[in-house]
Amino acid sequence: MAEQKKTGFSSKIGLIMAAAGGAIGLGNIWKFPYIAGENGGSAFLIVYLVCVALFGLPLLMTEFLIGKRSGKSAYGAFRTLSGNNRWQWLGWLCMLTALVIMGFYFVVTGWCFSYLVEAVNDVFGGFDATAMTAHFQKIISNKPRMLLFSILPVALTGAVLWFDVNKGIERLSKILMPLLLLMMVLMAGRVLMLDGSNIGMQFFFQADFTKITPHVIMEAMGQCFFSLSIGMGALITYGAYMPKNQNVVATSIQVIVLDTLVALLAGAIIFPAVFAFGFNPAEGPELVFVVLPAVFEQMSFSWFSSVLFFALLCIAAITSTISLMEVAVAFVCEASNNKLNRHKSVLIVSAVVLVMIAVCVLVPQVFTIFDEVSACIMMPIGALGMAIFVGWNLPNPNGKGVLSPAKGAKRVMGKIYINALRWLVPAAIILIFLNSLGIL
Ligand code: PHE
Repeated sequence: MAEQKKTGFSSKIGLIMAAAGGAIGLGNIWKFPYIAGENGGSAFLIVYLVCVALFGLPLLMTEFLIGKRSGKSAYGAFRTLSGNNRWQWLGWLCMLTALVIMGFYFVVTGWCFSYLVEAVNDVFGGFDATAMTAHFQKIISNKPRMLLFSILPVALTGAVLWFDVNKGIERLSKILMPLLLLMMVLMAGRVLMLDGSNIGMQFFFQADFTKITPHVIMEAMGQCFFSLSIGMGALITYGAYMPKNQNVVATSIQVIVLDTLVALLAGAIIFPAVFAFGFNPAEGPELVFVVLPAVFEQMSFSWFSSVLFFALLCIAAITSTISLMEVAVAFVCEASNNKLNRHKSVLIVSAVVLVMIAVCVLVPQVFTIFDEVSACIMMPIGALGMAIFVGWNLPNPNGKGVLSPAKGAKRVMGKIYINALRWLVPAAIILIFLNSLGIL
């Protein structure tokens, strides 16, 4: 708890912006458009929004509450709240999920840094769709360069955690997140004026229920967990830093709204551009990297816009990698009873992450597996575990459990929340799993 005071957030809005900064990242701007593009556009969007409504609020609240009540990160939180070791596996799962995500996330962050350098050097001028795709392939096939560009964000993230500069990140998020949003609004406006952009808008926004398949549902659930950072303990850490009088419900809603807004904006930029320039919406993980430079070519101040955007994208990615790496670092500290201090933990985690990154860069199949398994399997299982842990073990409203003593409307809301955790969330996750396995 002493640590909580030291690194605690200075204001409510600071915590919201930091949590939103951790949630908003490549998941919204890189992954959302590519997964949506591969899964039927609007069909995916519908299921995604249903998943956000269904899972977002109860699970965000749950993680914040676990952190707030225990004052610990994932590993220590489950033990402190349950008073035994039976839920320790959830702490392990959170740490493992963080490692698997970091394995590929840092690689994509490396792509962003590489594109930032290219934007500075103005190399995209005059490229058409084919040239853009070929250029991306050329960049990622240069493995030593990719490795180097992936190591850079690991060093940056490690440095932030080493020097414990959360305050700086809080201040940075408060300025840069709104700037990123503004930039994206301008880009969406420009893209909408392109010839043929209406086909992209239809692809993304015109509801087509016929394309909803079990696979689309599974991918949408995974993307919801990934984008909101649910089910791997990242939000537990923010909960532990939360000022005691901060409202968990309001904070959760604000983070969800901001995160969803950025994902929608990313879609509203990418899909109209995809159709206007003749790209393939199901292009895969390279989608935004081939489409965005083409968008900047159409904008006024194209050099400045693309440099600014890729710089903001790199920062959005780093605020997410900080919250990811924090889960693993806190795990090492807490699991070793602080025998391994923060500095040693940062070094150990960075070393493990570097190995995972090397594997992802050298074996593209592993990249794909990490990307898929973390979102669609590990995070939903983590969320399922947390829902059952809190729903069935800790609902006691008289102080010992997770809910505060509450009366009137709050009591009713608390009841709805607990029942959602007990029944709705676990049932929905299990049904989606069974459905995608073809058992239902
Ligand atoms: N939500 C982040 C994004 O959208 C990724 C992330 C997942 C960050 C899990 C922390 C924990 O980019």
